[in-house]
Amino acid sequence: SLATSIAGVSLSSCLYNASGPLCTTAEELDAIGNSEAGAILSKSATLEKRAGNPEPRYFETPWGSINSMGLPNEGFQYYLDYASRAEAFAKPYIMSISGLSHQDNVDMIKALAGQKHIAAIELNLSCPNVPGKPQTGYDFEQSRALLQRVFEHVSLPLGVKLPPYFDLPHFDMMAAVLNDYPLAFVTCVNSIGNGLVIDPESESVVIKPKSGFGGIGGDFIKPTALANVRKFYTLLNKDIAIIGCGGVKSGLDAFEHILCGASAVQIGTQFMREGTTCFSRIARELGEIMQQKGYADITSFQGKLRSL
Ligand code: DHB
Repeated sequence: SLATSIAGVSLSSCLYNASGPLCTTAEELDAIGNSEAGAILSKSATLEKRAGNPEPRYFETPWGSINSMGLPNEGFQYYLDYASRAEAFAKPYIMSISGLSHQDNVDMIKALAGQKHIAAIELNLSCPNVPGKPQTGYDFEQSRALLQRVFEHVSLPLGVKLPPYFDLPHFDMMAAVLNDYPLAFVTCVNSIGNGLVIDPESESVVIKPKSGFGGIGGDFIKPTALANVRKFYTLLNKDIAIIGCGGVKSGLDAFEHILCGASAVQIGTQFMREGTTCFSRIARELGEIMQQKGYADITSFQGKLRSL
């Protein structure tokens, strides 16, 4: 069985979409609902609807993707209203929120208190693409200040989407903040921010916003994602679940995330490339690996990475 549970919320499959690709409109969310994905996660909502950055703003390469979408989304109320429609699908609906200010995040979380049919909130501390807005997750004191305010109001299970960290003391510093709050989960990782993909033939950048700089996803981010999953799995309170995200395009990639400690695994770039069939294909591949290894469920190997 690929079933898992996060903060008391049961998922029939540990695989679902990353917030970002193909989860902005009700039709896209329905498609995730109708797929084998274990949950439906919305595009990060801002208080007001946004058009996002100018196009082209997403570009795919053989090894992954670069994006600078700029939080195009239908606005908070739209994703709140979608919750009643999500009821038709026998799986949790999780809302991602990414306010343009701490106050906006607090206002949205207040409005979610006591809402039915929303299983959890993924608070995004790591959007790299809004010009002039630093990533909250890279500022430990700002992260603490926001979580302090958020936990005065939240009633639903709440987790945070983190940026990737690269320096070992930074893991300790962020873990010390996160361990002070009753988080349901942390999702590791968002895209590696502000990479640059160029086309040598045309001698040009490939996306328009921010002089071509954007968040990197896909194959190259898997080692960074696994490091972040593993570090936070070892550093965080055991009642905070880790959700892995980064470089998953096969059952073997998902297996690696779970071995590092993930309770569930999100799929971003590969979902964008392949569509909803990625959830059934990767589930089948993961199931085959588990069968070969004699693991009946994901808790049989979750977090059990061996050291030398
Ligand atoms: C966007 C990108 C992100 O990585 C994120 O976490 C939120 C929003 C975007 O550009 O739309």
